[in-house]
Amino acid sequence: MRVQVAIIGAGPAGMVLGHLLHRAGVDLIVLEQRSRAYVEGRVRAGVLEHGTVQTLRDLGVGERLAAEGLVHDGVSLACDGDVLRIDLAALTGGRGVTVYGQQEVMRDVFDAAEARGLPVIFGCEDVALEGLDGAAATVRWGQDGAAQSVVCDFVAGCDGQHGVSRASVPPGVLVTHARSYPFAWLGILADVPPAAPELIYASHEDGFALASMRSATRSRYYLQCPLDTRIEDWPDGRFWDELERRLGPEAAAGVVRGPSFDKSLAPLRSTVTEPLRFGRLFLAGDAAHIVPPTGAKGMNLAVADVRRLAEALLAFYAEGGEGALDAYGPAALRRVWQAARFSWWFTGLTHRFPGADGFDRRLQRAEFDVLAGSRAAQMAFAEAYVGPAEV
Ligand code: APR
Ligand code: PHB
Repeated sequence: MRVQVAIIGAGPAGMVLGHLLHRAGVDLIVLEQRSRAYVEGRVRAGVLEHGTVQTLRDLGVGERLAAEGLVHDGVSLACDGDVLRIDLAALTGGRGVTVYGQQEVMRDVFDAAEARGLPVIFGCEDVALEGLDGAAATVRWGQDGAAQSVVCDFVAGCDGQHGVSRASVPPGVLVTHARSYPFAWLGILADVPPAAPELIYASHEDGFALASMRSATRSRYYLQCPLDTRIEDWPDGRFWDELERRLGPEAAAGVVRGPSFDKSLAPLRSTVTEPLRFGRLFLAGDAAHIVPPTGAKGMNLAVADVRRLAEALLAFYAEGGEGALDAYGPAALRRVWQAARFSWWFTGLTHRFPGADGFDRRLQRAEFDVLAGSRAAQMAFAEAYVGPAEV
């Protein structure tokens, strides 16, 4: 078998790239190690930037998103109980964010792939990449015990942080810059109405809390906690008590308690791997970079990367020449580093760091007061939060 582009991984990066290339007539295959049910069932983030929504609409996979996504024109920050609403839309010329779970996005892109004949192969075992620095690459995998392979012009490594693509590059070519944060987020999902119509990010002496949602009847809440936290030590009652305490009376007034049906722990990390190209291989999305969830950038960066990568590949097929392909990485990385910066700043503003003292806490409060008192500071926050106007 031969294709122009083999895409490894059917997460948001792989599937959006697949749709972008497929509609332009590029011959491709998407290879995913898990099942569709597994990929669609993974609980992940849920805030879409304006540009991400535009991309999904533009691809014709935004119908349910338009009907069911919750458009948020603002977001609130709370510090020791004081609540500041940032009017994202007013500060950015009308750009808000849309709350629509990654699981919903995955369902939409998989349904459209089936309808359009975009080939996605699930259950690919032991995917291996060969010839990345040669004239053509070969991708091998196993399926139901049989060996399969495809020869291609390019491989798009969209296989997430633990994928095979980045690991297939010879040692010494890539550099990964990393920052581990000394805490994690404990998250729950519960079928109760959200505390407020918009998200609330709360900074409290004892740590961060976030009130988010998936719909008008499903809430998503997070608490900062130590890395060695055991989920079984956090029964629902303890979680709700701590959440309300950290949100403060005003923000907690709207919390509706109920049984959680999902509880999980995620450490906060930031990594960026450079460069994004090795011969015939391009890295995109979580395969290339991870951001802490504070800025809600993970899925948005994945989509922004593959928009750029698709444009570069289409320019190559239309005009020949490697210029656009070489420009993909540097352009994508500029955006990635801006998201890493924002996520790092926002995490620092809102979380309690081990060893932090009264000086640190007062600086956090001062930063909050600067935001509260300055339209310019709010505008900078809003611009970073909703993402660039041009993808
Ligand atoms: N072979 C084939 N597929 C693989 C392999 C492999 N060796 N390793 C991983 N995969 C698949 C995973 O099963 C997953 O479905 O690659 C996909 C990668 O998807 P994501 O991890 O969702 O990464 P990405 O598409 O870059 O999207 C980033 O998703 O991970 C979240 O929070 C993150 O929102 C961000 C976004
Ligand atoms: C979520 O709803 O899961 C969510 C929202 C905002 C974030 C992170 C996660 O910053």
